[in-house]
Amino acid sequence: MNPLDATKSGFLVCIAVCTFIYTFIYLKDTLLEDPNEQKFSENTAECGFYPDELCSALFMGKTAAFKIGNVCQNTYRPETFSCIQTPCNCSTVLKTLHFITRPLSAEERSFSLAYIITIHKELEMFVKLLRAIYMPQNIYCIHVDEKSSEDYKAAVQNIVNCFENIFISSKRENVVYAGFSRLQADINCMRDLVQSKIQWNYVINLCGQDYPIKTNKDIIKYIKSKWNGKNMTPGVVQPLHMKHRTQFSYREYVRSGMSYVYPTKNIKSKPPYNLTIYFGSAYYILTKEFVEFTLTDARAKDLLEWSRDTYSPDEHYWVTLNRLNDAPGATPNADWEGNIRAIKWKDQEGTAHKGCKGHYIRDICVYGLGDLQWIIESPHLFANKFEPATYPLVMDCLERRHRLKVLHQAEVPIEDHWRFQEDSYFNMKLNV
Ligand SMILES: *[C@@H]1O[C@H](CO)[C@@H](O)[C@H](O)[C@H]1NC(C)=O
Ligand SMILES: *[C@@H]1O[C@H](CO)[C@@H](O)[C@H](O)[C@H]1NC(C)=O
Repeated sequence: MNPLDATKSGFLVCIAVCTFIYTFIYLKDTLLEDPNEQKFSENTAECGFYPDELCSALFMGKTAAFKIGNVCQNTYRPETFSCIQTPCNCSTVLKTLHFITRPLSAEERSFSLAYIITIHKELEMFVKLLRAIYMPQNIYCIHVDEKSSEDYKAAVQNIVNCFENIFISSKRENVVYAGFSRLQADINCMRDLVQSKIQWNYVINLCGQDYPIKTNKDIIKYIKSKWNGKNMTPGVVQPLHMKHRTQFSYREYVRSGMSYVYPTKNIKSKPPYNLTIYFGSAYYILTKEFVEFTLTDARAKDLLEWSRDTYSPDEHYWVTLNRLNDAPGATPNADWEGNIRAIKWKDQEGTAHKGCKGHYIRDICVYGLGDLQWIIESPHLFANKFEPATYPLVMDCLERRHRLKVLHQAEVPIEDHWRFQEDSYFNMKLNV
């Protein structure tokens, strides 16, 4: 080693040691002592410089961490994705966006998941979601809302073009909240998915504001252990206060800039085949056989036609069919079962959770920093809702933790570009 190199490495070691000591003292002072004694300013907040330490403290619910985190979030410059603003070639897309490029275990390689992702805005969030759930053995159908801007559609297409197992649905809907179009968007993707040459075992639907809290491996383990061959459609027989949804005929109002669903005075006929209507989650995890059944069975087709003018049909369609005795993988006696989605509903404050630390939109919590601990302790596979434009650190912490867990479980050698963290002086606790 020449003298210059020796001096250089000595200097680097010194920097590393100093950084370590500084981090230790800093964290000891700011995170562990009585939070009320501390004064925080933007100058002392090391936003994003030691993100794993800050995220760990947030996940543990340390009061001081929220103060630092909130200061950080106000001045935060979220990561800008180079390949989104300006198109780049596919090897650069895969590398700079940190996509996993090989199956991480034999178990995962032999059990493929299909995903349906419905999106309409916020490209960065879509990329964050996609790279978290992406595995080369899975298959992904992206439904881009017809009313999204041309720029947005083109940007999504640019990313999708780099993958053989990701495609945009062949038919696009103009999706209206609580309307039939929302259900139709999923069905469009299902038609494409069952025709794909890529084999898959289960399908999972996601929207642009969902994010996984379990790894691909954990998801497979959960499906195999509790639901082997069965469909997950949490829900119950339609309660009285939901009857109006299928009793009256609804219409979609669609204009540029505004669209909604409204009831008419017309009373609907009884459901076809005297089917018992259930009410449940629009989120499901379904077997391929069940999907094929819903696309071909006469009852399923008639129920679909009958549902065209109902309110939020995606909240009765899947669960109603999955309660039929003879549907493939049916669970006729199931209730609100299946840990599909962690959601803080406003009306469950005080029971399922202790309040929303971000803010509510349509009675659903958009997670803030104070919700992180609740999220990672949840048994659910995915969580909703996220808004990185408002709470960027929430997404960053969950992303970092998720990727660390994925790589920790990997049974193959890890490639450098799979890591988000260049160096890490600190081990984020993953065993929660
Ligand atoms: C992709 O782009 C990068 C950077 O612009 C370049 O170094 C690389 O050679 C390109 N790769 C291909 C396959 O064109
Ligand atoms: C329809 O179903 C209900 C209960 O689900 C039952 O009481 C009724 O007899 C059925 N009617 C017909 C015509 O099958």
